Amino acid sequence: MVGADGNLSLRDGEGMLITPTRVPYEAIEPEQIAAVAADGTWTGPLPPSSEHAVHSAIYEARADVGAIVHAHPVYACVLTVAGRPLPPVLDEVAPVLGGAVEVAEHAPSGDPALGLAAVGALGDRYGVLLARHGSVTVGRDLEEAFYRLEVLERAAQVYVLAGLFGRLTSST
Ligand code: 13P
Repeated sequence: MVGADGNLSLRDGEGMLITPTRVPYEAIEPEQIAAVAADGTWTGPLPPSSEHAVHSAIYEARADVGAIVHAHPVYACVLTVAGRPLPPVLDEVAPVLGGAVEVAEHAPSGDPALGLAAVGALGDRYGVLLARHGSVTVGRDLEEAFYRLEVLERAAQVYVLAGLFGRLTSST
């Protein structure tokens, strides 16, 4: 993560609670968390994350999702730049992430089109890659969404490094 990259949210009734835009994590205070309603209106001392449309689109599409983590981890980003999905290269990928992690079509950061692209590529799984951008992982709570981020990034790192040997195992 660099600076204030990424954002976290929790479902809250019909809307969500989400990190404020452009505040580094170590500087975020609880009272700065923004509340965004289902119609996109927000309350809080600071504007919500510029990616709130992505979070809203996922909550709308997936009743099972209670929390979302968006991040820009290096190895996941390598895959998004290469346009390569993450196959189930390690045994934990399928159980934790629900299968291969697909790359959503590119849309500009903050654009509602990015929400539609993310929902489409996420399907019924628990992680998705955003082209030339980063990762999104979902869970019932923030701990689960964050754990899935860690599994996704570690598997992406192993996948990229294993590629140095050339031929990968048949499941890839
Ligand atoms: P925010 O600071 O607005 O949440 O944006 C960070 C980010 O990661 C954009 O993709």
